[in-house]
Amino acid sequence: MTARHWKVLAVNPHPEATFEHEHEALGPLGVELQRITPRDDAELIAAARDADVVVAMRYRLRPDVIARLDRCRLLPSGGIGVDHIDLPAAAAKGILVTNMADTFVEEVANHAWMLLLMAARHGVWLHEMVVTNRWREGQDQIYPILRKPMPRVTGQVLGLVPFGRIPRAMAKRGHGFGMTCIAYDPYVSAEVFAEHGVESASLDEVCRRADIVSCHLPHSPETHRMIGEAQFAAMKPSALFISTGRGKVVDEAALIRALREKRIAGAGLDVLEDEPPDPSNPLLSMPNVTLSPHMASASDVGAVERRRLMGRQIAAVLQGQVPIGVVNPAVLPSWQERWTPVGAR
Ligand SMILES: NC(=O)c1ccc[n+]([C@@H]2O[C@H](COP(=O)([O-])OP(=O)(O)OC[C@H]3O[C@@H](n4cnc5c(N)ncnc54)[C@H](O)[C@@H]3O)[C@@H](O)[C@H]2O)c1
Repeated sequence: MTARHWKVLAVNPHPEATFEHEHEALGPLGVELQRITPRDDAELIAAARDADVVVAMRYRLRPDVIARLDRCRLLPSGGIGVDHIDLPAAAAKGILVTNMADTFVEEVANHAWMLLLMAARHGVWLHEMVVTNRWREGQDQIYPILRKPMPRVTGQVLGLVPFGRIPRAMAKRGHGFGMTCIAYDPYVSAEVFAEHGVESASLDEVCRRADIVSCHLPHSPETHRMIGEAQFAAMKPSALFISTGRGKVVDEAALIRALREKRIAGAGLDVLEDEPPDPSNPLLSMPNVTLSPHMASASDVGAVERRRLMGRQIAAVLQGQVPIGVVNPAVLPSWQERWTPVGAR
């Protein structure tokens, strides 16, 4: 197959995306990303059934769409989460799925730490006191009366759920702030916990002991609403809940009840169950909640690295090579059988 036959389709790209960084690796192969903003799945299938690669960063790839991608070798996620791509359907079709691995771990940990400090030190409220000419009121509420409890953070317990790459970067920050770090992750070995100076604990223990619970769970059928009524009930009334993994791993109604009934003290959330949220979502008007619009991974450097890496992943598969960042390695034997030239296997 010659280069001019390769079709790489970007679904719903940002209108201003130019793909210049993806093209650093793709240009020499004579490949240009084509863009499509489909009205529905039928339109996507019509355009993508002969595509070699389908990049769907802002589009949910359902099983019936993936089942029709007859020439597709790769579905790059463009992020760390792959929950917008149906993995069983990709496996059934023998298509590799890649993610950005550790490209923006530091950004997400920094952002989670910002939410943590904003929640602990009432950042949004304090800013409002200044810009609405209530400087003294802000001071009075914090200093003499302490109507708004303000934890020191240093010396407290940071509870991490689970203990993947981003929570490990959180633990580094936690240690820097003089915190004790504990984490729940049944899939991580005792050696990894020890190497990072973090104590392994059950989910219940993390919720009970932590002053700040930071949730970084990927979304899957197994983790769906894993943090719910029982977990919020176990937390301290002074606890802060930070979430930058996926919104759907949290039972949001249970979180709202816990915040309303002051069974926990506050939250910092980059991810919500529905994104963007309905304007009537109570979390949007709670004074003890700090929000950001699912952008913890953003940074000037990371945005470029992410695009370069995706270009390299696509260029690799078009040449029959295994890309970095494969999240479904079980597909590899049949994939190589089909796409890797015999001499190069
Ligand atoms: N807000 C953002 O902008 C943003 C950016 C990047 C990543 N994320 C999210 O953060 C998640 C975590 O990223 P990461 O780099 O730390 O991922 P990772 O792949 O390094 O770690 C995931 C961890 O989840 C654990 N896990 C999986 N299923 C579990 C279960 N049922 N119970 C307990 N633990 C379980 C695994 O053992 C693993 O350690 C991503 O999957 C993504 O959804 C969000």
